[in-house]
Formats: sequence, C-alpha cells, structure tokens
Amino acid sequence: MAATRGRSGGRRSKAAAAPLRFGPALMARLDELAGITEVPGQLTRRYLSPAHLAAKARVEAWMAEAGMRVRTDPLCSLFGRYEGRAGGAPAIMLGSHIDTVIDAGKYDGALGVLAAIAVVAELARSGERLEHAVEVAAFGEEEGSRFPTHILTSSALTGAARPALLDMRDADGISVRRALAVAGGDAKALRACARKRGEIAAYLELHIEQGPVLEEKGLALGAVTAINGSVRFRVTVTGFAGHAGTVPMVSRRDALSATAEMLLTIETLAMSTPDLVATVGRIKALPGAGNVIPGRVEFTIDMRSPDDGVRRRAAKTLLARLREIASRRRVGLDVETYQENPAITLDAGVIDTVAEAIAACGHEPLRLPSGAGHDAGIMAKLCPSGMLFVRCKDGVSHNPAEAISVEDADLAVTALLEATRRLDRRLQAAG
Ligand code: GLV
Ligand code: MN
Ligand code: MN
Repeated sequence: MAATRGRSGGRRSKAAAAPLRFGPALMARLDELAGITEVPGQLTRRYLSPAHLAAKARVEAWMAEAGMRVRTDPLCSLFGRYEGRAGGAPAIMLGSHIDTVIDAGKYDGALGVLAAIAVVAELARSGERLEHAVEVAAFGEEEGSRFPTHILTSSALTGAARPALLDMRDADGISVRRALAVAGGDAKALRACARKRGEIAAYLELHIEQGPVLEEKGLALGAVTAINGSVRFRVTVTGFAGHAGTVPMVSRRDALSATAEMLLTIETLAMSTPDLVATVGRIKALPGAGNVIPGRVEFTIDMRSPDDGVRRRAAKTLLARLREIASRRRVGLDVETYQENPAITLDAGVIDTVAEAIAACGHEPLRLPSGAGHDAGIMAKLCPSGMLFVRCKDGVSHNPAEAISVEDADLAVTALLEATRRLDRRLQAAG
C-alpha cells in the first residue's frame, strides 16, 4: 500500500487516511488572520497597532463562537473561558501570542492561539466538560517588535511586569502607556492583570518549533523540556560626525566603522562559544547621509544559551572586547541591558503529559529544548507549564516562508486536545 511519508510523519497511508478533522479549518483561519497586517503585502502586526486590535477582535469572535466567555485584560491580552464541570474551577490555560515580528510568517504565535480555540470548540461540540476550566490566552506582546519590551503581557499575569516598562517608547516616541490609552487598555490597572496562584492550574502552549530538529528526525511533534535563557542589550557608539570629503582617514572617529568591528567580534565570540548564539538584529547609523561620517550608531544584541553561566560569562567577555575596540578607535560606548530572561526548565509533569499525548496519537514523543523564547517561559513562574512543538518546513521562522502542513496542523490539534484531557486528569489526581 502506498504511504505518504515525510511531512505527515509517515503514518497516513493513502488508502487508510482518515479525513482531517481540524487541519483544513485551522489553516483557513491562520490564513485569514495573516491577512490582518499593518503593512500591505507582508505580515507585520505589532503590539497595540490597529492590526493587532483588529486581529484581537477576530480572535474574540472565534472564541465566542467556540462557546467561551471572553474578556480583555488591561494590557489588551484576550482570554476566553470555557467552564469545567463546576463553575469557577481553576483553569488549564492554553494559548500563545497574536503579535508578530516585522515581515513575519503566519504561524509563530497564531497557531497556538487558534489551535487552542479549536480544542475548546471540539469540547463544546461534544458537550464535554473537564474538571478544570479551559482558558485560551491570546497574549498581546511576545515579540518585542514595537516597544523595547519582550513578553510583557504574560509577565503581567505573573505580577512581574514593572510599571516602568509602560514608559518604554516605540520608534515614533509613543509610550506603551499612550498606546494602551488609544487602544482602550488601562496602564494604571497593570496590577489587575496579575493572576492568583492556583487560579491557573497549568499552562500549555502549542507552537511551531522554529528550528529544524523535528523535521530532520521525520517527526511531527515534540514535547518541550526547557527554554533557553536570553539577554538583550541596546548599544550606542558615539563618534564624531564630519565631512566625508575633507576629514583625513586617520583623524576620523567613525561610529559606523567602529561598530562594524564590534559586529564581527560578536559573531566570532558566538561562533567560538559552544551553546551560545548572538544576533545583531537592528542597527541605525546617524545622521544617515551618504556624505557625512557617521557620528552615532545604535544597535541591539540578542544573546542566548541553554546555560545561563555560559551566557553571562560570554556577555562579560564581549563587553570587555567592545570596550577595547571603542577605546582604540576613540569612540564612546554605552551598553544598556533592557531584557534578561533566565533559562527555564519546564514542569516535569506537563512534559510527561505532552509526551504521553503525542504517543497516544501514535507518534514518537521526542523531548527537545526550545532555542526561541515563549510566553510559557514566563508562565512557568506562575504555574506548571509546558509546550508542544509542531514541525515547520526547513526549520524556518521569523520569515514569511514559515510553513507547516495541513496534516501536522490537524495532528497538533488532536494532540493538544489529548494533552489537555490528560493534564486535567493528572492535576485532578494530584489534588
Ligand atoms: C521570540 O520569538 C523570541 O524568541 O525572540
Ligand atoms: Mn512565538
Ligand atoms: Mn517569534
């Protein structure tokens, strides 16, 4: 019998293939949501942009249609609640984020939110109630693509988001506070976002892997064990602007040339340090004219590792090297840490539950760590948390070429539903 191997994990034989229950509708919704963007022709949906609010309204309608009671919190995250057997029970929270990076793919974040809605819709369709309520979260800000914050909205649930974060400004000088006021949020009510311990019994996030491991192993799903730690720096290099035609090369204090040397130093350090990655993703040279020696450069550094010790030692070495370059080239250097998240080991019980659910769906339950950051890493401070990864094509993410197959989308909902039921029983048994 011919079998369709590969993207569907080698399990669906052509003749025996059961019709897909969830995949086609989920993919259609992901396409529809991806059409809600700030920039025509590409998917860019930053926190509190009109596109974010329009996507939120669409997701709200889908939550309500699935049988959930929906509310928006003061930071404009959306929560849909499907009660358990008894009203007011602690919730198993499923979800992810609906903001995107600039020029994003369709699946990062959105898949986890829309798959969670599909899970609740299926429970409601069959009249099934769990011991726990199921809450679906559509977090507003995970990517840090507008404000120099990152994972702000889930941090607010844990009570860890400091009010000073709301004074952060976007590239147009608009603060989170101001953007919230325009969007109908309420910065002053930040503390009201915080959830009490016990109110959320567990958090489970479905997400595309954003890396190549599952695909390389021919597996559709994986149980996430840990989330790498990260640090983000904002660097300012100050030289001296001058005439591009008249200032001799030896007299220059060119901030951009100094930065070029710094960027290669960052890359060299990351390449020579096991388990470390480092990225300069944003750079601005000022004043930005072809005939002016750059007087000031601003850039970001994102460093990550599964080992916080490795990351911290590398950051110390790096800062010493950047200072040496700045002093030799007679430019000023200012380095500000604006975000730091330690590596997180996810909850053993949730990891086991996810692995068992994958196995129950007839697939091999690979356990793997996440190189990317996720809301689950924040929620782990509040409640037992875990993640279910879905393979993505060529491991590509943060790129419009991000892709998953309809078969994998279908399987992901089935596995998430299975994991939710199992988690409900496990938590109940644990009391
Ligand atoms: C989020 O996608 C991150 O890991 O930066
Ligand atoms: Mn994401
Ligand atoms: Mn992302």
